[in-house]
Amino acid sequence: MTILTPQESYKELVKLSKKLTYISSLIAISGWDERTYMPKDGFKHRAEVHAIIGEYIYEEWTKDYVGELIEKAKQGELDEIQKANLYWWEKKYKEQKKIPKELLIRHIKTSTLAYHVWKEAREKDNFELFKPYLKEIVEILREEAQILGYKNEPYDALIDKYEPEMTAQEIANIFQQLKSETLRLLNRIRNENKDFKSYVLKGNFDKEKQKEFCKFLLEKIGYDFNKGRLDETAHPFATRILPNDVRITTRFYEDNISSSIFGTLHEMGHAFYEMGLSEDHFGTPVGESVSLGIHESQSRFWENFIGRSLAFWEVFYDSMKKFFPQFENVKLEHFYLAINEIRPSYIRVESDELTYNLHIILRFELERDVINKKIEVDDLKDAWNDKFEKLFGFRPRSDKEGILQDVHWSSEMGYFPTYTLGNLNAAQFFHKINNELGNIYELVRKSDFKTIYNWLKDNIYQKGSLYKPQELVQIVTGEKTNPKYLINYLENKIENLLNIY
Ligand code: CO
Repeated sequence: MTILTPQESYKELVKLSKKLTYISSLIAISGWDERTYMPKDGFKHRAEVHAIIGEYIYEEWTKDYVGELIEKAKQGELDEIQKANLYWWEKKYKEQKKIPKELLIRHIKTSTLAYHVWKEAREKDNFELFKPYLKEIVEILREEAQILGYKNEPYDALIDKYEPEMTAQEIANIFQQLKSETLRLLNRIRNENKDFKSYVLKGNFDKEKQKEFCKFLLEKIGYDFNKGRLDETAHPFATRILPNDVRITTRFYEDNISSSIFGTLHEMGHAFYEMGLSEDHFGTPVGESVSLGIHESQSRFWENFIGRSLAFWEVFYDSMKKFFPQFENVKLEHFYLAINEIRPSYIRVESDELTYNLHIILRFELERDVINKKIEVDDLKDAWNDKFEKLFGFRPRSDKEGILQDVHWSSEMGYFPTYTLGNLNAAQFFHKINNELGNIYELVRKSDFKTIYNWLKDNIYQKGSLYKPQELVQIVTGEKTNPKYLINYLENKIENLLNIY
């Protein structure tokens, strides 16, 4: 074999990384199909296809040759982009090498099984059915954490998969402040006994009309249907197949208009991030999104900070009335109140901008204790219910309303905190945009979404994984993730809402 120079080694890595990214786009397109239009019984063999392609990619990337290329490339004169790519390549290579294949397969197989059992357990409202599988998942994750290594505590190793380089302690410090301020604001709302006029959102809304309206909004905001699609699924998602092919889905409830609209805006935010990534760097880390906490900041930004604002509906409420004449006699302010109703509930996905984070903090604290062996799965349900009662003031009446509501623990832990990190980062970016571009809601009122999109594209999307997530937040906003921005935003918003009658 010829000896390669560092630059040649780097080029080889680019070639391989691109090739594997193209191959994995087949899983993306097949996964999209699986969740949208595939006939129900197709799932068995489809899973086989994904496993085969996934295994091929894994085998290619863990060859010793890849490790040699990385070592060689590191010896060269590297620019900032090359350094970043090599950092992520090396991280992925080392982590995949460390995890024994048997453990990987055990994880995948247990997850598949656990997912089906979780669904059944939830239907039957019986945590006992799911418990043995959750125990096995926790055991696997604890083992993975030991193998991967960690800074302070085993749970750090799992967080690192989704929010690289962030530690549980850093997150706990941020969440602690957010928690006490959220409880304070929640108390304020309870004392006011506010009527959020939620009845205005009830009624009968034709599915096709909803779809038309969602497409209308997407077009007005700037989602390019030459590069994307909107389809219907039970659980909304966004997926990039390839650059210039980023698809989203939403769900339509005939008796509830807000689910489809805000689901669409949420996934549109994810899609904007994927569409705005650098095409030149496609197939390498610098052309990829950097973390879930940053990704979720983009979906929450468009869904909540823009989509649930009064300014946004000043622009679109007349169109809304044309699509849905039942709003003809509903005041804009009342519609605004209703879509922002703050009402503590058992279910995370039905919760509002304020209490959502309490749901996440609860899961974060429990996951952390379980992975760090402070509590065992046998005690998890009681721990959930106790903690829930402490935060919300009432206790789950069933497993369905409590520990069985989310799918995540049928395969992973460490994912949940990224949702609230997304909210926090969105608020921080929102604050920065207001400082740099002037009042963002003035841009919204002029339907100038392009200026907002371009700012996000230049500062966040185009950066891809050039920086680690907290470095990116620091570079864009001048500091790391700081809860004060979200707290201020929520406080202002709530004051606003409470002044509407
Ligand atoms: Co999301």
